[in-house]
Amino acid sequence: MYKYTIDSGYTIQGNNKLNGSVNISGSKNASLPLMVASILTDEDVVLNNIPNLLDVQVLIRILSKLGKDISYENDRMVIKSNGDLCSEAPYELVKKMRGSIIVLGPLLAKRKCCKVSYPGGCAFGPRPIDLHIKGIEALGASVNMEGGYINAEATSLVGTTMNLSGEFGPTVLGTDNIMMAATLASGKTIIEGAASEPECTDLANMLVQMGAKISGIGTNRLEIDGVSKLGGIEYTVIPDRIEAGTYLAMAASSRSKITLNSVCSTHLEKVISLLKDMGCVIETSENSILIDASKNELKPFNVETLPYPEFPTDLQSIFTALATSINGVSEIKESVFPDRFTHIAELNRMGSDIKLHETTIIINGGKPMTGADVQASDLRAGAALLVAAVVAKGISNVHRIYHIERGYEKMETKMRSIGVNIVKKEDDIL
Ligand code: UD1
Repeated sequence: MYKYTIDSGYTIQGNNKLNGSVNISGSKNASLPLMVASILTDEDVVLNNIPNLLDVQVLIRILSKLGKDISYENDRMVIKSNGDLCSEAPYELVKKMRGSIIVLGPLLAKRKCCKVSYPGGCAFGPRPIDLHIKGIEALGASVNMEGGYINAEATSLVGTTMNLSGEFGPTVLGTDNIMMAATLASGKTIIEGAASEPECTDLANMLVQMGAKISGIGTNRLEIDGVSKLGGIEYTVIPDRIEAGTYLAMAASSRSKITLNSVCSTHLEKVISLLKDMGCVIETSENSILIDASKNELKPFNVETLPYPEFPTDLQSIFTALATSINGVSEIKESVFPDRFTHIAELNRMGSDIKLHETTIIINGGKPMTGADVQASDLRAGAALLVAAVVAKGISNVHRIYHIERGYEKMETKMRSIGVNIVKKEDDIL
């Protein structure tokens, strides 16, 4: 695993015009739950198209600590059981990745008890887990929090009907957690207010192929009939729609023409229709997207982040950066994470005119942007800085790129391959 100094960074010479094509990697947010689903079976799980990312490496360490044997070469991962699973996910590992909370449901289903470090907050807010806890309690587990750990146990898990939607809508990882636990519960579990993101659908599809009985997949109401055991599987993870959306935004902001390959355009319908409304020409085929932003003058836009199939919160910061390149006022309302705005101050250091009114970002676009030293405060905020740096005048140094490399595979190699003048500072890697 890479180690980063505090000054790790990409240096980007701005004013780039992009061209050529880029291959989209497997989805980070789908890979993590698919890897965790291996806890539910004693048989082998083989996963293809898994991106080599810091988050994936952290989860390999967590699953190894729990007792799985994992080999990972190119994009193929083989997860084997190695006797009884340990039921404790320790703080040293969980603190590195908030998403590790999804081991809770499967560990509880398989071991009937588990101890998982409380994941804590992150750069965009407190990130509560009350809905995860509500779900496992509804299945019959008793839960207590002590010393920073969630301790859960149950003599058996029993299916029931629950609503997992909270103040900000459905929970993606909460749905994954409870869906996995319910596959091995006795009787029927109905999850109302379930998340229907493509990553949840991917997990449900894989669980069904392992022998789970799930209906309503891809909707906000999942019905799971518990089974006594799940079997092994070989499965291929879906393409990363957020990585794809990032490269689309980069092409649009630099008024370029590029093609994305190994991508699923149906997962990006809202994003593609927004880009078309702005004036981008987009052609899609089964697994590619061509974007040409050089033909028309781009228009400012208004959009609100909401659960799938609406515009994703994970592209909010990235489209904020895109809006800075478009003359006129664009507005983006953040309705999933009400604190996800750390990128604004950094973008304004580069010359943009962005204001926040409650949870609406108001971008007065078209101001001249200049390269600067800026810091990634989280994964997508970091990606937004790259989108801005690609078109800014002069040199940008983007620091704390370990946030970016948590979620983007071969970022600087891919950006360079489509014409961005970018280097990773060699002496930043220890
Ligand atoms: C996942 C994604 C993340 C994405 C988010 C929303 C992974 C690893 N991460 O995060 O990239 O931005 O979905 O699409 O897949 N909430 C509660 N109580 C809970 C759980 C969530 O109130 O118990 C709230 C959150 O604070 C937030 C909203 O519900 O306001 C949605 O969060 P959630 O869908 O749970 O995000 P994650 O699954 O953690």
